[in-house]
Amino acid sequence: METKKVLITGGNRGIGKGIVEGFLENGNQVLATCRDITKFPIKSDHLTVAELDISDADSVENFKKIADEFGPEILVNNAGITKDNIFLRMSDDEWLDVIDTNLTGTFRVTKLVAKGMLKQKWGRIINISSVSGMMGNPGQANYSASKSGIDGLTRSLAKELGSRNITVNSIAPGFISTDMTENLANDDLLKKIPLGRMGVVDDVVSLVLFISSEDANYITGQTLVVDGGLFMK
Ligand code: NAI
Repeated sequence: METKKVLITGGNRGIGKGIVEGFLENGNQVLATCRDITKFPIKSDHLTVAELDISDADSVENFKKIADEFGPEILVNNAGITKDNIFLRMSDDEWLDVIDTNLTGTFRVTKLVAKGMLKQKWGRIINISSVSGMMGNPGQANYSASKSGIDGLTRSLAKELGSRNITVNSIAPGFISTDMTENLANDDLLKKIPLGRMGVVDDVVSLVLFISSEDANYITGQTLVVDGGLFMK
């Protein structure tokens, strides 16, 4: 794999941390973001860490200079949150926080780097969405809407940017063992997953690395599901 410059949001834990490690292991130059850089768990000569809160337009604006200087060729929009509640109890804040972080945050960061990719006439944008956005999930109206929104954004951008050799895809994980899902694993859930287990971070990382590689040159506008068979169209 030719080495590249890769920007990953929310790289300090869970799936994002695995993606940072995966790109570093393959010799790439990584710019990882985190809301508190003093707590970033990985150190490497090939790694730069920068502070970024994707739900805060000012924070994104402050990050612009760092992103411009780095010049990412690959962007992984990984940062995301859940604020689950049954629909009738869901507050405006719970709705807006999740949409603003997951969907608007992805829009903001992508906008920041798309111009540079257009100039380079090469780029890979990978958005981490979720099967929840495709199949729906009770208690996750906000999260499902934000993740379907990411899939729609992915398809529109794939059409706008394709002529400049920029591919845009989303990856929709099922249930992956991380802090976000630590209380979810139970027998009823596992029965719904044909492969009979929760996913692990590496199940997602390997797909991110493949989609970033030259082997995936002709794949764009897709939502690629990695969920052990939980959701089948
Ligand atoms: P996590 O909660 O362990 O990590 C989320 C990351 O996003 C953290 O680094 C956090 O600091 C960052 N983040 C949250 N809000 C942010 C903000 N406003 N600005 C900047 N960074 C922010 O979660 P996990 O499981 O690693 O999730 C990563 C992505 O994968 C998320 O987009 C999530 O929705 C998605 N996903 C996770 C699944 C799972 O089963 N764990 C399933 C499907 C999708």
